[in-house]
Amino acid sequence: MTKILFRGFLLCLPMLAAPQATAPSPGGYVGSNACKTCHADVWANFYKNPHFKSIASGTEAPEKTGCESCHGPAKAHLEAGGGKATIRAFSEMQPVQVLNGCLACHEKQIGRAQIRRSSHTQADVACNSCHSVHRPNSTKTLLAKKQTELCYGCHNSVRSQFAMPHKHRVNEGSMQCVDCHNPHGSPSPTWRVGLRPRMVETTRDGEEPCLRCHTDKRGPFAFEHAALRVDGCGSCHSPHGSMNPRMLKRPVVFTVCLECHNGATSFGKSGAGIPTQSSSHNMNDPRYRNCTTCHVRIHGSNSDPQFLR
Ligand code: HEC
Ligand code: HEC
Ligand code: HEC
Ligand code: HEC
Ligand code: HEC
Ligand code: HEC
Ligand code: HEC
Ligand code: HEC
Ligand code: HEC
Ligand code: HEC
Repeated sequence: MTKILFRGFLLCLPMLAAPQATAPSPGGYVGSNACKTCHADVWANFYKNPHFKSIASGTEAPEKTGCESCHGPAKAHLEAGGGKATIRAFSEMQPVQVLNGCLACHEKQIGRAQIRRSSHTQADVACNSCHSVHRPNSTKTLLAKKQTELCYGCHNSVRSQFAMPHKHRVNEGSMQCVDCHNPHGSPSPTWRVGLRPRMVETTRDGEEPCLRCHTDKRGPFAFEHAALRVDGCGSCHSPHGSMNPRMLKRPVVFTVCLECHNGATSFGKSGAGIPTQSSSHNMNDPRYRNCTTCHVRIHGSNSDPQFLR
């Protein structure tokens, strides 16, 4: 309701570059220039920040402009000569307060639609655990560190997975964690049948990120290998890295296949069991152990139900 009043007032506000101090506006907003004397370092670097746009444009309401868009009205802070108690100090906030503060403006983007239920939020990892507004590694994404180092900082075991002999080249810089993950929460509510979403960046109809790059595995195939459709790429591959040159979960291929193709009656069509290998397959014969020398179209085939060609 007072928005029009704010806007009208803003027109008379001097630009940041102007040296003179600004008069307090209704609601206790004082404008960003007032911070310059005491927080010189933060103030001096702020022009590089994407949030500086609100100052540069000069068209936003005071509660959406500059320093006070995040730290709140600073009149009391100024009158007290500073202090953490008189202003929205992030160092004093609970993770959920940080989250709400940032989401006041950043809630709309689709990429963060699931942020409130993401594993990070549930584990109290809030925006400022990853982003640094004033001391970022890059002014574009405002990350506190280079992305891989940032993530490894809390996920140390993943570092060793990307150091395996065969891996996606994340450490080498040709790929990033966010090529497969959305640290703000996966768009789909589950990952695999009923599991937590692992913050995997699926499309909204649940397609795995793998297919964006490995498009030839998408199909559709006349004869699908049910393992891909139902359990996805991860039923045979380790997405980060592995001892196997094709990044399979097990060092040799047949051990992967036999995990399912063992005749156990809990899987497969109507729970009737996934077919074991045919009786022609002699596992004592080394020739038969390398399943994919014959079942060459293991991801699906357009001409053979047993993926032989
Ligand atoms: C008269 C000097 C002065 C001015 C002007 C001033 N501050 Fe402060 N500010 C301080 C002092 C002193 C502290 C307390 C620092 C501490 O305890 O570590 C403080 C603390 C803060 C904190 C909390 C820091 C933390 O550790 O979380 C924020 C945020 C802050 N100021 C923002 C602002 C903003 C925004 C403005 C301009 C609208 C502003 N200040 C203007 C002196 C000032
Ligand atoms: C987009 C939100 C946002 C804006 C805009 C913003 N800050 Fe901050 N500020 C933060 C957050 C979050 C922190 C906590 C530390 C961090 O993550 O970098 C912080 C920390 C601070 C601190 C504590 C000490 C420090 O250096 O970290 C001061 C002082 C401060 N801000 C002043 C300002 C001033 C002055 C401006 C305007 C020039 C400003 N802030 C604009 C979000 C913001
Ligand atoms: C008053 C609204 C507002 C608040 C509050 C706010 N932001 Fe922003 N933020 C913006 C705007 C506007 C941009 C610039 C978007 C653009 O460049 O088009 C931006 C840009 C960013 C960017 C750079 C990426 C991009 O989309 O350009 C990051 C990262 C970011 N904000 C994080 C945060 C975090 C973390 C907080 C909480 C500490 C926060 N923001 C609070 C409005 C806000
Ligand atoms: C676990 C770490 C992490 C947390 C927590 C996190 N982010 Fe991010 N955020 C990232 C990374 C990594 C990127 C960079 C994505 C890229 O490079 O494309 C990013 C990108 C962004 C961007 C710019 C690109 C986009 O998606 O629009 C904005 C804006 C942003 N984050 C806001 C937020 C806000 C607001 C919060 C809290 C509500 C938050 N982030 C919490 C890691 C995080
Ligand atoms: C090629 C795609 C891809 C890349 C790149 C990738 N991940 Fe993953 N990650 C996945 C998939 C898929 C899963 C889910 C595995 C599963 O089904 O449990 C996963 C799982 C995880 C898990 C959960 C592990 C668990 O067992 O709970 C963490 C943590 C993780 N990734 C962190 C990272 C980090 C950090 C990076 C960057 C250094 C990264 N990932 C890069 C695809 C990827
Ligand atoms: C401040 C610490 C911290 C940072 C930084 C961080 N994470 Fe996490 N991450 C966690 C915690 C805590 C959990 C939840 C506990 C768990 O499941 O291990 C988690 C969970 C995950 C999961 C598993 C989700 C699930 O549902 O099982 C993935 C994937 C993940 N993080 C990826 C990333 C990526 C990618 C980055 C970098 C952009 C990142 N994390 C940065 C702390 C962090
Ligand atoms: C951003 C693109 C991208 C995404 C997303 C991606 N990959 Fe990859 N993948 C690559 C590239 C590039 C290589 C080549 C290996 C290298 O970097 O040397 C590769 C290699 C592989 C290999 C080994 C292939 C070989 O030549 O031996 C497998 C298996 C694989 N990816 C599976 C996956 C799975 C499973 C996922 C999803 C969890 C995935 N990829 C997601 C780009 C991607
Ligand atoms: C049923 C097990 C299984 C599933 C599920 C599976 N793969 Fe594979 N994949 C394999 C095997 C076995 C190989 C090695 C083939 C060989 O030795 O020639 C392989 C090889 C690959 C390769 C490297 C060679 C090539 O054909 O390009 C890529 C890339 C790959 N898979 C990606 C994927 C992606 C993406 C998915 C999910 C859509 C997926 N795989 C699902 C078993 C599987
Ligand atoms: C995650 C479980 C899983 C894994 C691992 C797996 N499969 Fe399968 N496979 C299936 C299911 C389910 C079917 C469909 C069975 C049906 O239609 O009853 C199938 C079907 C097949 C068929 C066609 C069978 C027929 O009835 O014509 C062949 C051949 C096959 N798989 C070979 C392999 C090979 C070779 C591997 C190892 C590279 C492998 N599979 C790994 C689950 C798996
Ligand atoms: C030397 C080539 C060759 C190798 C190696 C091979 N297969 Fe086969 N496989 C075939 C042929 C040919 C058929 C179809 C004719 C038949 O049933 O014998 C078949 C059929 C199958 C079927 C369907 C059986 C059914 O009853 O419908 C499955 C499942 C299968 N193979 C799995 C495997 C697995 C798992 C491996 C590795 C342990 C493997 N195959 C290795 C040639 C091979």
